[in-house]
Amino acid sequence: MTKILIVYYSLTGNTQFIAEALRDSVEADILELKPIKELNADKGTRFMWGGFQSTMKKTPELMDFDINPLEYDLVILGTPVWAWNISPPMRSFLSKFDLTGKNVALWMCHAGDGIKAMIRFKEILKSANIVESITFQQPLKNDSDTNKERAIDWIKSVEKKV
Ligand SMILES: Cc1cc2nc3c(=O)[nH]c(=O)nc-3n(C[C@H](O)[C@H](O)[C@H](O)COP(=O)(O)O)c2cc1C
Repeated sequence: MTKILIVYYSLTGNTQFIAEALRDSVEADILELKPIKELNADKGTRFMWGGFQSTMKKTPELMDFDINPLEYDLVILGTPVWAWNISPPMRSFLSKFDLTGKNVALWMCHAGDGIKAMIRFKEILKSANIVESITFQQPLKNDSDTNKERAIDWIKSVEKKV
């Protein structure tokens, strides 16, 4: 059986919503990335500070976890788009492991459009085997049922390819 790990970061719940839809539809371990110093999700300044962190390619320290992605056959990575890029906590995670040759599938949640950010996400993981990728526009707010179904259909197709 394919050993699957879902890794995600979420500040305001959208990426988490997709992570949970995926976890409910396949047999997988799940890891939520938590920075030790989290942005305040309700403050207007989060866009500035978070956008700055993302643009500067910061790798904030994460809370400890004892999961090793290298032990899995497929690693599914999910992040919100921050300043047309991946979120800093996802960058921290990716800086810890060499996923060269590893099967990965990528999803991103965004507000505007996630195209440029997805190109960057793929660029960062270019040495991995990117099986599939998908983006969701604010899935908690916009047609959450449809987005959940999209996520489930997506993960089924990813599973078939590995
Ligand atoms: C600091 C910050 C920067 C963001 N930058 C972008 C952006 O460049 N493009 C975009 O489409 N959405 C941007 N967003 C919106 C998020 O990507 C979007 O709300 C996403 O669904 C949030 O996922 P989450 O609820 O899992 O945290 C930004 C949000 C934050 C907090």
